[in-house]
Amino acid sequence: MKSAALLSAALPSVVLAGYDGNLNYHSPSRRHPSLGIDIPRIKLSKRGLEARAWDPAELEFTHGVASGDPYPDSVIIWTRLAPSVENDRSNVTVSGIAPLYNHDTERYIKASPNPICVQYQVAEDEKFSSLVIDGRAYTTSDIDYTVKVEATKLQPFTTYYYRFQVCDSDKTSPVGRTKTSPAADDDVTGVSFAVYSCSNFPNGYFNAYGNAARKDNIDYVIHLGDYIYETGKGKQGQDARATNPPGTIFTLYDYRTRLAQYRTDPDLALSHQKYAWIPTWDDHEVANNGYRDGFSALNNTEDSFLKAGGVSVDQRKMNAVRAYFEWMPIRQVDLDDNLRIWRNIKMGKLLDLVILDTRNYDRSITDLGWNSNYIDRIRDDASRSLMGSHQENWFYRQLSESSERGATWRLVGNQLVFSRIARAGATLSGDTWQGYRANRNRTLAHLYNNAISNTVFLAGDSHQNWVSDLVWQDEKPYDEKTGEGSVGVEFAGTAVSSSGRAGPIASSNRVSGNLVRENPELQWNEGYYRGYYELHVSPKEVRAEYYGCPTVATRNPFEISLANFTVKAGTNHLERSVGNGTVEAGALKGGNVRQTNVTLNTETGTWNITKFEDMYIKY
Ligand SMILES: *[C@@H]1O[C@H](CO)[C@@H](O)[C@H](O)[C@H]1NC(C)=O
Ligand SMILES: *[C@@H]1O[C@H](CO)[C@@H](O)[C@H](O)[C@H]1NC(C)=O
Ligand SMILES: *[C@@H]1O[C@H](CO)[C@@H](O)[C@H](O)[C@H]1NC(C)=O
Ligand SMILES: *[C@@H]1O[C@H](CO)[C@@H](O)[C@H](O)[C@H]1NC(C)=O
Ligand SMILES: *[C@@H]1O[C@H](CO)[C@@H](O)[C@H](O)[C@H]1NC(C)=O
Ligand SMILES: *[C@@H]1O[C@H](CO)[C@@H](O)[C@H](O)[C@H]1NC(C)=O
Ligand SMILES: *[C@@H]1O[C@H](CO)[C@@H](O)[C@H](O)[C@H]1NC(C)=O
Repeated sequence: MKSAALLSAALPSVVLAGYDGNLNYHSPSRRHPSLGIDIPRIKLSKRGLEARAWDPAELEFTHGVASGDPYPDSVIIWTRLAPSVENDRSNVTVSGIAPLYNHDTERYIKASPNPICVQYQVAEDEKFSSLVIDGRAYTTSDIDYTVKVEATKLQPFTTYYYRFQVCDSDKTSPVGRTKTSPAADDDVTGVSFAVYSCSNFPNGYFNAYGNAARKDNIDYVIHLGDYIYETGKGKQGQDARATNPPGTIFTLYDYRTRLAQYRTDPDLALSHQKYAWIPTWDDHEVANNGYRDGFSALNNTEDSFLKAGGVSVDQRKMNAVRAYFEWMPIRQVDLDDNLRIWRNIKMGKLLDLVILDTRNYDRSITDLGWNSNYIDRIRDDASRSLMGSHQENWFYRQLSESSERGATWRLVGNQLVFSRIARAGATLSGDTWQGYRANRNRTLAHLYNNAISNTVFLAGDSHQNWVSDLVWQDEKPYDEKTGEGSVGVEFAGTAVSSSGRAGPIASSNRVSGNLVRENPELQWNEGYYRGYYELHVSPKEVRAEYYGCPTVATRNPFEISLANFTVKAGTNHLERSVGNGTVEAGALKGGNVRQTNVTLNTETGTWNITKFEDMYIKY
């Protein structure tokens, strides 16, 4: 086996261009073509056209390159090679290729764009002197000219460079960098991630993506959802970050266009170019407060056809999901289950990264604004699930199997804050784990009853930072001073650019103070800064470093180190003293807050953060 692997590494295999090479033609089902894109029909509709090759001058790599979902021997690489930046207007769904070719008259109904041949190369070095893979694939308007290829035959936990070319020409994409995962039984000394959520384009600049990429201190990027937002904001030609399309999105064209616009942000593009991403979605990739059958602003009734321009709830969800898979450099691990994004990525003996979908897959009804009382009454209903039975059982099995295989850590890439956040006199939220307490209890019971250790929940969604021990109130004793009784920890992160707590930092910190006092397991909360956190995982400990962007009103490279936390393996709680006793903002249980004074002069667009000069990152 070994010599065969070496041989194939030494002699790159040149494959003829084909539709099969581009994974997006298989979406959403490889085994049932009629459920997805009908490749034989595309081929038929393009027959006779292939002779006319594209002039490379007609084509552009419109949105850089991206990679994701690393396995020990392969990674997904992505680009878009198109005759136009415009996204494809066809709202084709099932068998939607039909209009291009009329089988009765044997004529083309409208001009069909030729298939575009694209070459991809993966190498060990940036100059591509040592090629590992050299292959070809097609793309067409049917998949919005996206190219998604699985680069195979790679070595574990190795950095690679990749690029795309218009076939038989020297028109080349930017060079991307990526990294495979460690093999499942490798002893790995360290793996690190930057963790993001809630990147709202019109709300602010994506400085958080750029800052981590420029520091270049991590192996992979995790995104916990709300990568795009579905609503419209701003006036085009007037506001630099007005949305495209201008309004709320519903059609396939709409979702493609919105994803494409986000990908024009240079800091997001840089992050995609430098790292393999492991993203999952939350609600806004489809629509606000979604669940299995609807959204807060669109009921699953005939009404939806009027409100959404003829697009039903289900159709809208399908459009969003299809555009997402076209545009994101990730795998569809079960092509017969086309809504599935939940998956597991093993990283050596060090960790399992269990990626959940607590939102769109099979979630019981959520708080939609007008039904809060109802949700409050049913929050303890035993049948309620954030994930649906299929995924829930898979999730528990992943936790057990990961523990049984001896992986040191279990990272749960989840959307919603898991820890209970209670406010005196206020009703618990119905759109978080608190609205699905049976599902939450089953998760805790599974961890406690099976003595599964070293579980770290990751969360986004809330636009604030929350760091907690993982505890089961009223069921298992817990000592907030020592952490005794906790079954793991939770690191929930703030938004890249979505709004946090309104008001000045001092008042935000006071609110944090009340929250930290009222919730025993909540050790740190912070709601003023936009940002992200880094996770540095080793066999001995997990270290979380939180970073804040002083402002996202401009594109800028500044960031502040907000807080650092450590979890030692085997302890199942945050290391005391939590945060080493001092954080920069928010409120730390039993600790100090330094509180940097950042002032922004909105007239000049300059700001004063002279106190922490050494923490600036330069472009
Ligand atoms: C697809 O949707 C767009 C709106 O986003 C609309 O303008 C266009 O006419 C639709 N195309 C078809 C073929 O229905
Ligand atoms: C959905 O239905 C509820 C209950 O009838 C109603 O209160 C709400 O306004 C509806 N939402 C939309 C967006 O039509
Ligand atoms: C979940 O556990 C809590 C104790 O933390 C308990 O009060 C509640 O009744 C349980 N709910 C369900 C549905 O199991
Ligand atoms: C967090 O750790 C980094 C070094 O890893 C240090 O530079 C920074 O000051 C720390 N931040 C806080 C708030 O303690
Ligand atoms: C914790 O803080 C002390 C100063 O209070 C510092 O000397 C030490 O290096 C810090 N430890 C870590 C791990 O950041
Ligand atoms: C922060 O700086 C502003 C302007 O320089 C000043 O008015 C304010 O008092 C300062 N706040 C704190 C908490 O130091
Ligand atoms: C910036 O802050 C320093 C003190 O921290 C102060 O002396 C200076 O006037 C401030 N500048 C502006 C432009 O606010």
